[in-house]
Amino acid sequence: PIIHILNGPNLNLLGQRQPEIYGRETLADVEDACRALGQEMGMDITFAQDNFEGGLVERIHAARGVADGIIINPAAYSHTSVAILDALNMFEGPVIEVHISNIHKREAFRQHSYVSARADAVIAGAGTHGYRLALRHLAELLA
Ligand code: DQA
Repeated sequence: PIIHILNGPNLNLLGQRQPEIYGRETLADVEDACRALGQEMGMDITFAQDNFEGGLVERIHAARGVADGIIINPAAYSHTSVAILDALNMFEGPVIEVHISNIHKREAFRQHSYVSARADAVIAGAGTHGYRLALRHLAELLA
């Protein structure tokens, strides 16, 4: 299976960004860990990050008919973006939403995610391990 892993704004600064909330691992570390697990599970992984809403929308369009599943951490756009939700609604395969932090334990404005209306599963608060949990769950869904 082909899995596209998409990351939203500010996640390029993972490791430097509020490490007390998001940890010290960089996005490159997360990518390496996902690729290693993907290889173990026979998954072909594309890993991307975009600070722009439209960039994420276009990456979701590009996944149509290509990827078997999407893992997305929409970051702040989770809480604002109908456009990302609409794009995901045109993707035919399973979608797993990942948040490094437990958004339900944080500010009220983080507790609603537009993307959750489309996601087959939502993983929040497991740290960067959430991406690997999402890969394992996708493997089950696609088996
Ligand atoms: C986040 C949570 C969002 O509220 C925040 O805007 C992020 C990261 C997470 O991974 O915990 O940028 O999606």
